[in-house]
Amino acid sequence: MNPLLAKLQPYPFEKLRALVQDITPAAGFKPISFGIGEPKHPTPLFIKEALSDALGGLSNYPATQGTEALRQAIANWLEKRYRLPNVNPATEVLPVNGSREALFSFAQAVVDASRPGALVLCPNPFYQIYEGAALLAGATPYFANSDPARNFAPDYDAVPAEIWQQVQLLFVCSPGNPTGAVLGLDDWRKLFALSDQYGFTIASDECYSEIYFDEERPPLGGLEAAHQLGRNFDRLVVFSSLSKRSNVPGMRSGFVAGDAALLKQFLLYRTYHGCAMSPAIQAASVAAWSDEAHVRLNRSKYVRKFQTIAPLLGEVLDVAMPDAGFYLWARVDRRTGLSDTEFTRRLLADYNVTVLPGSFLGRESQGTNPAKNFVRIALVAEVDECTEGAQRIVQCCRSL
Ligand SMILES: Cc1ncc(COP(=O)(O)O)c(C=O)c1O
Repeated sequence: MNPLLAKLQPYPFEKLRALVQDITPAAGFKPISFGIGEPKHPTPLFIKEALSDALGGLSNYPATQGTEALRQAIANWLEKRYRLPNVNPATEVLPVNGSREALFSFAQAVVDASRPGALVLCPNPFYQIYEGAALLAGATPYFANSDPARNFAPDYDAVPAEIWQQVQLLFVCSPGNPTGAVLGLDDWRKLFALSDQYGFTIASDECYSEIYFDEERPPLGGLEAAHQLGRNFDRLVVFSSLSKRSNVPGMRSGFVAGDAALLKQFLLYRTYHGCAMSPAIQAASVAAWSDEAHVRLNRSKYVRKFQTIAPLLGEVLDVAMPDAGFYLWARVDRRTGLSDTEFTRRLLADYNVTVLPGSFLGRESQGTNPAKNFVRIALVAEVDECTEGAQRIVQCCRSL
């Protein structure tokens, strides 16, 4: 077997299962999970109908590059959402089977492990796929710690020059999982300058881009930042997804967009990898990317949840509104006296509410795990269930 497999860590949810396996939750409370970041709002009917109307496509092999119709729908969406003058659907867009597989496979295509000391720079805490992708590509992950003073955006200034010299790939997550931090234009200016200086590629994971709280201020995207700064898309690829935007995590549909030269090589890799998107999913994806009404409705549900729940939890935990996304990132130890894992166990045992310990989502870096003693609270269920879960968290904290 590939010896690099031995370097992979168990997934955070496996660690959570092991942490709570001996617990029998208190009787009388129905289970409420804020653990997994899986959208729970219903899938819009028109997307299901577009899927079933296209089932005839199952009799054809799809092209890895996807249909022109899908690439055009994605390019149109990008131009509108990020006010880009011209995205070329033939060369600057590729459909992928959800952003997860693309984040993973992109690292395999980009990293040159024959160069000594290959590094992949990840935020910390982070989405664990980045780490596994780096390791299996033969690189070493390096972690930029989140900075509480900047609503938990990674502190790239703390990364030394000798590290940047070895970085081949930088994973950015904006809006961030789990912190919700969104990179601003100044952050992007800095990252582009570093990429120009050291020659690394930027992979910007933007799968939470459509979950935000002010209709007038959608999160800035990487391509948008490049355009605003008068750049082209050199060494920049963004990853986006319908999973959260359109409540179709089971459809496995997303895209990558950006640097045409990188996408050409990535397409070559994917042709061998064998990950063309089913024709029926492609047709449903065209429908989903072409409609914004369902996205606004979806967003309005998150706005209601965060408006109620963030202040409620603020009474008992150190927690602030995230910039965007559907997670609350709450520090627990200062006000409860419990560590993140102790808090998680207690909440499940006494109130049958599941959260995810932050330390499972971060790594020791520069002598600290910046996610320790935080918990991630995924507000994915419908409003009433989330509110009840939050009320139980308040009760739990008050009982300590
Ligand atoms: C930060 C981040 N990136 C990517 C993904 C993958 O999403 P999908 O593969 O459904 O597009 C997730 C899923 O939870 C995520 O949290």
